[in-house]
Amino acid sequence: MSLMPSERPSRTATKIAGFMLLLDSVPRLAPVLPPGAAVEAEAILRASGAVPRLHVELQRTRLTVRFYEATERLLGQGQLLWFGVRKRWMREVVEQAIAEGARQVLVVGAGFDPLAVSVARRHPDVTCVEVDAPATAEPKRAGIQGGGLACPNHVVLAADLAKKPLEAVLGAAGWRVDVRSVVVAEGLLMYLAPAQVSAFLAQVRACTSPGSRLAFSSMDSDEEGQPRLLFAGRLLGRAIRSALRLAGEPLRWGIAPSAVPPFLTTAGYRVLDQPTPRMLRERFLTPHGLAEEPLAPYEHLVLAEVRDSAG
Ligand SMILES: C[S@@+](CC[C@H](N)C(=O)[O-])C[C@H]1O[C@@H](n2cnc3c(N)ncnc32)[C@H](O)[C@@H]1O
Repeated sequence: MSLMPSERPSRTATKIAGFMLLLDSVPRLAPVLPPGAAVEAEAILRASGAVPRLHVELQRTRLTVRFYEATERLLGQGQLLWFGVRKRWMREVVEQAIAEGARQVLVVGAGFDPLAVSVARRHPDVTCVEVDAPATAEPKRAGIQGGGLACPNHVVLAADLAKKPLEAVLGAAGWRVDVRSVVVAEGLLMYLAPAQVSAFLAQVRACTSPGSRLAFSSMDSDEEGQPRLLFAGRLLGRAIRSALRLAGEPLRWGIAPSAVPPFLTTAGYRVLDQPTPRMLRERFLTPHGLAEEPLAPYEHLVLAEVRDSAG
């Protein structure tokens, strides 16, 4: 996992949760988010203590929305909307897996996203587990309790996965290796070193039965094998990379969409879906009258299935 999760809650995670509130405050964009997700994210953030109360309130002001619109006009439009599309796709992938028989959900590096608890509340017969580093998982747990969202089939595990393998973390929570599952790693793999990504894929396989699914987002990579922000020009890409490095969350891994199938085959998976921006637009934007809305997907999405060892 990422080199060293810090002592404070992940800044990227609080930012992304804040983006959900911001998106929800723009009436034409709000319907793209998974239903109820922004309200749940807000309840979690407020009760978590991970960010000042005022920070949460600011996300919903007209001034912040205007500021964002101005920033996007300058740096490229559609970046905020990308988070909404990504969250919607992840939610639908999980719902689809459950509809097709999955009975366990695992969200790794969950941040302040309400996905696991939302799904747990909708499906009392599905075990939902989320894991994050202690500095993020502990306030998240407090946020879920304090926000009135806790439910018996959901658990937040606090573990630094750089130090403890997934199998050991999940074992203590009653996770079953023989139950069909769906695992989500959204906005996570780009922070891992290449060897850690391979280890993660092996660990997910070790924790799940064949036919289980893994959904993740990934950055592209440039000629030097460095993660590349898809929408950003060289200069902006470099600026964002430096900002993330300074925030203690440097980008470390990326893969070109075309390289995903052979890479995952070697790792014991089969690709089920790699939606293109056009497919995502048709599925999530066009139905809301947003066919022409700028969208800046800075990463790509992958849904894969765990093959059995013979397969
Ligand atoms: C960019 S955030 C994404 C949060 C969430 N998945 C989302 O999309 O809203 C990355 C998350 O991975 C977590 N993470 C990074 N390294 C980790 C580690 N070694 N162990 C556990 N979690 C880790 C961070 O704490 C953070 O919450």
